[in-house]
Formats: sequence, structure tokens, C-alpha cells
Amino acid sequence: MSYRTHHCGELRLSHAGQTVKLSGWVQASRDFGSLTFIDLRDRYGITQLVFDAEENAALCEQARKLGREYVITVEGLVRERINKNPNRATGDIEIEAKTLQILNPAKVPPFTIEDNSDGGDDLRMKYRYLDLRRAPVQRNIIFRSQLALETRKFLAGLNFLEIETPFLIKSTPEGARDFIVPSRMNPGQFYALPQSPQTFKQILMVAGYDRYFQIVRCFRDEDLRADRQPEFTQIDCEMAFVTREDILQTFESLTKHLFRSMLGLELPDFPRMSYDEALRRFGSDKPDLRFGMEFTELNHLAQGKGFSVFDTAELVVGICAKGIADQYSNKDLNDLTEWVKRPQIGAKGLVYVKFNADGNIKSTVGKFFSDDDLRQWGQAMGAETGDILFVLSGETDKTRKQLSELRLELGRRLGLMQPGDFKPLWVLDFPLLEWDEEAGRFFAMHHPFTSPKSTDIPRMMTDDFETLKSLRADAYDLVLNGVEIGGGSIRIHDRELQSKNFKLLGFTPEQAEAQFGFLLGAFEYGAPPHGGIAFGFDRLCAVMNGQNSIRDFIAFPKNNMGRDMMIDAPSPVAQEQLDELGLKVEAKR
Ligand code: AMO
Repeated sequence: MSYRTHHCGELRLSHAGQTVKLSGWVQASRDFGSLTFIDLRDRYGITQLVFDAEENAALCEQARKLGREYVITVEGLVRERINKNPNRATGDIEIEAKTLQILNPAKVPPFTIEDNSDGGDDLRMKYRYLDLRRAPVQRNIIFRSQLALETRKFLAGLNFLEIETPFLIKSTPEGARDFIVPSRMNPGQFYALPQSPQTFKQILMVAGYDRYFQIVRCFRDEDLRADRQPEFTQIDCEMAFVTREDILQTFESLTKHLFRSMLGLELPDFPRMSYDEALRRFGSDKPDLRFGMEFTELNHLAQGKGFSVFDTAELVVGICAKGIADQYSNKDLNDLTEWVKRPQIGAKGLVYVKFNADGNIKSTVGKFFSDDDLRQWGQAMGAETGDILFVLSGETDKTRKQLSELRLELGRRLGLMQPGDFKPLWVLDFPLLEWDEEAGRFFAMHHPFTSPKSTDIPRMMTDDFETLKSLRADAYDLVLNGVEIGGGSIRIHDRELQSKNFKLLGFTPEQAEAQFGFLLGAFEYGAPPHGGIAFGFDRLCAVMNGQNSIRDFIAFPKNNMGRDMMIDAPSPVAQEQLDELGLKVEAKR
């Protein structure tokens, strides 16, 4: 072993007396005159080195000059430490250094490589290789690697085959914009990077590979957020000869396996809720079930009492925050009112009813409603003394969305979202179609290959708007702590039905043929019933670790402008490259 006999997280008291060789990065050095201590780090841990001037003055002098992040190799004797460090796995020992070799000096890093770094986001993204050295980021990257391994083991055990599908494909519409790639050999023509391998995995089912999975990169040109990256990874799965129930069972087992093997947690069976029920009870198709605060509709109690805001509203709906009347001052309530009025939420105002400990009821709408009226609301919402009701009103969809945001904000402010508490949920029976006001047409809520529920197939051929809106799909999402972790559906496997669905989505037969002729064609050669799901792998990593942002689970993520700050991409390309592709680019002013 020319560089190391052990790694920096390995040595224990039982190694005392052994001569060892370690290599790594200088984390820190402490100079006490005759003694110099160096913390040596690699990805496994940190080991303390001691250089003693009385033993070897020249060596100690050399050690004193080591800067942070120098790469060194040290040979020395393992010995028991006098001042042990119980917070470190190697804290019982230290290495009495005998030789020191500097493999590479390092410039002073632009931020501290510590658990809590002093570097801002941009700086850490630019020097990602330094950020990746930090223990918390490293833990995330290691977690991700192990999660992928456990996924592969579990699915392989169920006879799933991992099959790669191409990255240079034709556009598959899934709701986001495609990234496109010009083809030099076919001037004027473009590939699209896959938003998901959807059509390919269906074709694999037609081809007879009845259990497929792939841990695969997907590309979507959409606005970025903490839980969205332009390139992200899915655990993409498809099965043939299955019902919805088979799929839910299989992937519930996968999720349970991942929690068991990675976190040592046994998840109970996942509850299920229809899309309609989720919206009614939580105003969201991805409710966070770690806390209650369910919606109560109040139209029958709150309308017809002369408060015109409520009287003219399609929906009056509220939530009850338990036991906060004492701690919530008028200022807090005003803050919350301002919060819901921000453009991001868009409520016109917030009605509250405070059931004070002294029996008094205080409300923003006290002028319009008697105490008895307000007590009735309280009763309907299961409120007790000490609780505050928050009520919003307006158009149904908007109001539910706003109240859902308020519910989550209260959950955050009141500390009701405990890390380490995991509440999975299957949301079922999504609408098949979604009306787009701007485009003036229906879009597929999941994607165009999703099957309607079999009971709804006879109702598909109609022009009636309300009927079309009410069609339900055999589609499901897996939600974990309010995050959409995965989504899938039973697919259409019949050419006729697929053509009908394309028609509903506004495709002419020619357009459908031009875009999806290959799939329609495949359906004519023996397509089995099939369905599948895709997990957002980055999101799964983040949620399992109680984090909101997926960035630190991706080794080389992009920033919110879709830029890779380290390699500085995207970037202009040489004119010759553009000429070769037959592309003209006009500089944007
Ligand atoms: P869907 O579009 O729902 O389904 O995607 C599946 C899961 O991928 C994750 N996800 C993302 N994660 C990070 N950044 C993004 N930009 C991003 N977009 C989506 C989510 C989501 O639940 N082909 C279908 C699946 C199928 O029907 O089998 C599909 O892609 O966690």
C-alpha cells in the first residue's frame, strides 16, 4: 500500500501499537509549540495526527506549515489518546507521525469545509468539489448511492429487469417543455431529451419484458424550485398483466423496504384517498398528513347572515388551529392576514374566530355574526376553548388552494411537521382531463397514455364539458409528508381507445399519427394490459432525510436559473459548431 493502509475513519483503540499509513486532506491544524496536531480527513472520517518537535523537530516544522486542504500522506504509530474525543469514531486514538509527504498543496478554500459552512449558495455551487467534501453533503450523496442499490436489489428480487432507454428521442408531451438537441446529420431536425421514458417503457411491455425498471435521468425545461431540477432522476417502472392493485402493492412494498433498509423504520400500510376527497379535506392533491387541521365547509352556517363576502362566495371553508388562542396575539393574526394577502397566496383577507380562555369570542366578523353563530362554526369544526378558526371564502378551487397554503404555513409555524415522522398516502382516481383556460382545450392531467377508469370509458365520447371534466383516470400518486414522491397509472393498451383519448386532447388523427404512430402501431401487434409508476428519486432522498431541497442530494445540481455554476453552462458555442448544425443564433438584446 503506497498511500494508505487504513482510511481516516477506521482506527480504534484495538489498533494501538500498529504502524499505519493514512492519506487525506488537512481539515485543521493546532500548533502548541512543541506539539502540532493535524486533523486528517477523508470520506470515511477524521483522524488526529500528532507531530512532536522533541522527537523530530524538522518533521514538526514541516507539519506546522501545512495549510487547510493540503493533500498529505503520513506514516506513524497508533496510540491511545490522553484527551479522548467521544464525538468522533476515531476519538480514542491518535497517530504519532513518523513521516510526512505532501502530495499536493492547496490554496486557501473560499469557504470553510465544515458542517456549517460560511459559504453562500453561489460560492458553494461554483466550488462544488469543495462543497462535496463537507460531511453533510457527503452523507447525502452516500445515502443516494445506497438508496439506488437497495432499489435495485429489491426490484431485481421481484424479477424486474433494468433496461436502458435512449436519451435522444422524439418529444413526449408530459406537461413541461422539452430540451431539444439539433441533429447535424439531419439538418433542420431535432431530438428531444426525454421528460421521462414513458413511451419506451410501454413499448417494452408490448415487447414482452413484463417487469421493467430504470434509475434514469429525465429532462424538463420548467421553472425551477427547491424540489425541481431541469435534470432529475426517476425510479421508472412498468409492469404488464397487472391491475392497479398489483402496482400499488408492489411499490408500497418497495417504499417500505427502502425505509426499513435505509432508516430502520417500519411503515404501516399506506392509507388511500381519492383526489376529490383530498381536495375536500385538505385543499390539495398532496396533503401533508403529519398533522390534522382538516377543512370544514361552512356555506350552510356562514351564508345568508348579511356578510356579503361570504354570501357571494362559491365556498366558505375553514380550519381550526388547536390551543393557540393564548399565544397568538393580534399582531400575529395581522401578520398571518398579511401573509395570505401576499400575491403568492392571493387571498383578499382572512377571517378568524378566537375562542379565548376567558370564554370570550373575538372575531373579525363579529359585526355580522352573533356569538351563537360563531359557536356553531366552532362546533362544526370540533373547536374548543383556546382554539382559533381561520376561514377563507371565494371561488372553490382558488379558496381551497389558499387555505391549503395557510394550513401548511400554520403547520410550519406551530412546529407540527416533525422530521422523522413519515406519513405516506396514495392519492387515487385523478381526473383524466384538465381544462386549460388559456389554450381553450383539455390537457391530460397525468399524460395522454393514462387509461380512464373502465367505468368511465363509455362516457368519453361526448362534447359535454361537465361530463368530460368529471371523467376519472386510473392514475395514482404516492405522497409523502406533502411531497409528490411518485406518480403513475394504468395505461391504455388498445389502439382505438388511445385514438379516442388523443381526440379528446385535441389531436387530429394526422397529428396523433405523426407524433405517436410508433406507439399506436405497436398496439396493433399484441399489447398486453400494463401500468406503472415513476418515483422522483431525488425527492425521495430529500424527504427521507427530512429536507425540502433536492439540490444537496445531487452531486452536480443546477441553480434556479438552470445554470451549472461550476462549469458555467449553458454557454455560447463556436460559430463553426452552429454552421455545422445549420443554426442561426441571434444574440438576445
Ligand atoms: P411524473 O411527471 O409524475 O410522471 O413524474 C414522476 C415523479 O418525478 C418527480 N419529478 C421531479 N423531480 C425533480 N425535479 C423535477 N423537475 C421533477 N418532475 C417530476 C416527482 C414525480 O412524482 N412517466 C410518468 C410516470 C408514469 O406514469 O409511470 C412521469 O414521469 O416526484
